[in-house]
Amino acid sequence: MTTKAEVPDQNNAQLESIERVSIDELRSLQLQRLQWSIKHAYDNGVFYRQKLDRAGVHPDDIQSLDDLAKLPFTEKSDLRDNYPFGMFAVPREQVSRIHASSGTTGKPTVVGYSRGDIDDWAHVVARSIRAAGGRPGDILHNAYGYGLFTGGMGAHYGAEKLGCTVVPMSGGQTPKQVQLINDFKPRIITVTPSYCLNLIDEFERQGLDPSACSLEIGIFGAEPWTNQMRIEIEARLGIDAVDIYGLSEVMGPGVAQECVDRKDGPTIWEDYFYPEVIDPQTGEVLPDGELGELVFTSLTKEAMPILRYRTRDLTRLLPGTSRPMRRMEKITGRSDDMMIVRGVNVFPTQIEEHILAVEGLSPHYQIELEKQGHLDSIKVHCELQSDDLDADSVAERLKQRIKNMVGISAQIHVHKQGGVLRSEGKAQRVIDSRGT
Ligand code: DLL
Repeated sequence: MTTKAEVPDQNNAQLESIERVSIDELRSLQLQRLQWSIKHAYDNGVFYRQKLDRAGVHPDDIQSLDDLAKLPFTEKSDLRDNYPFGMFAVPREQVSRIHASSGTTGKPTVVGYSRGDIDDWAHVVARSIRAAGGRPGDILHNAYGYGLFTGGMGAHYGAEKLGCTVVPMSGGQTPKQVQLINDFKPRIITVTPSYCLNLIDEFERQGLDPSACSLEIGIFGAEPWTNQMRIEIEARLGIDAVDIYGLSEVMGPGVAQECVDRKDGPTIWEDYFYPEVIDPQTGEVLPDGELGELVFTSLTKEAMPILRYRTRDLTRLLPGTSRPMRRMEKITGRSDDMMIVRGVNVFPTQIEEHILAVEGLSPHYQIELEKQGHLDSIKVHCELQSDDLDADSVAERLKQRIKNMVGISAQIHVHKQGGVLRSEGKAQRVIDSRGT
């Protein structure tokens, strides 16, 4: 694996003390914060007072971390039903910032932050950038979108807090992004992996060698991406590519961050966010190591505490390696993104893996679901790396791989270079043309 970044000094000197504590100390801090968070949500927010009363639980019932399982879950629909400000647990005047996610239908989901929350968020993002290998003084090119999406401002405040020089580029204006990377010579880029591929293509379109640019570290998240994609981006851009995870309901980017020294899945910043993995069908808490749905409880948030939030993200909890906190396995997908094709469950990332394994295909793709008679069919749109390649034989190789390894028959549509829609933020991987 290429590594341009100097492996950071992991011999503790630059770590916060919490990044070095024993598990017992960590658990004790978590319990103390958990009790505070539940009490705060109950005492100061109408939503959780009603929810906990209805479930017949009281904050005093939570005497251990395991007692958390007594609380009911919070779901995205709770945020929608309490639109816009019904989830807040501080007077609106104390909310210093709002973010929102668009949602595909209906009302957006709104989240709010107090001054203290903004500070905590910047803290975990600064910690994340440091774990990725970033240092004070680095120039950071931030290509996450600014605005209601949490990516842009979340990364921005964290980078400033660490002491970086931030270039607040946001998404879009792709040729200009390349120009500014060339001129300002950032060491770090924060961007979705799909938009990064778009930037790499733009370098090449301008006749530049992307691997020769100044970038050494890429901090990629906001959408699922495979380890095959990591290898592709690292090779083409000559960087270390690490995974940052987060969601607006819980905070934004920086809930978990992969450490560059191991690249073995994001470390969850457990002093701020308490993770559980549950069986998505029964809601039962699963032991560490088992695959299920990730659930988070905020431990410090003031404006909008969130208890047992069902993320819909599928992963497993793994023991800490670079830090005492647990890690999460790289996300394979969201339960919402799971496609059921003739009885077989398929995630877009499974298709991505095979596209990246077929020589001659570029990493851009989109999946279209169609109805053929009563049956669902899947069409994979991908594109050639160079137009002089034989599209039919490349398509056949991908079709066979998907048939053998995923177990479904997919139609493959190989486009010419540039034929697949490019992402400027979160990629839309699946187009559902099945109607209702
Ligand atoms: O995407 C926050 C974020 C911004 C994370 C920038 C990382 C970088 P939302 O728009 O609320 O927030 O979307 C959250 O995106 O539940 C996951 O399904 C997905 N997601 C976020 N990070 C990752 C990741 C931001 N590293 C939803 N890998 C989450 C896979 C991710 N999926």
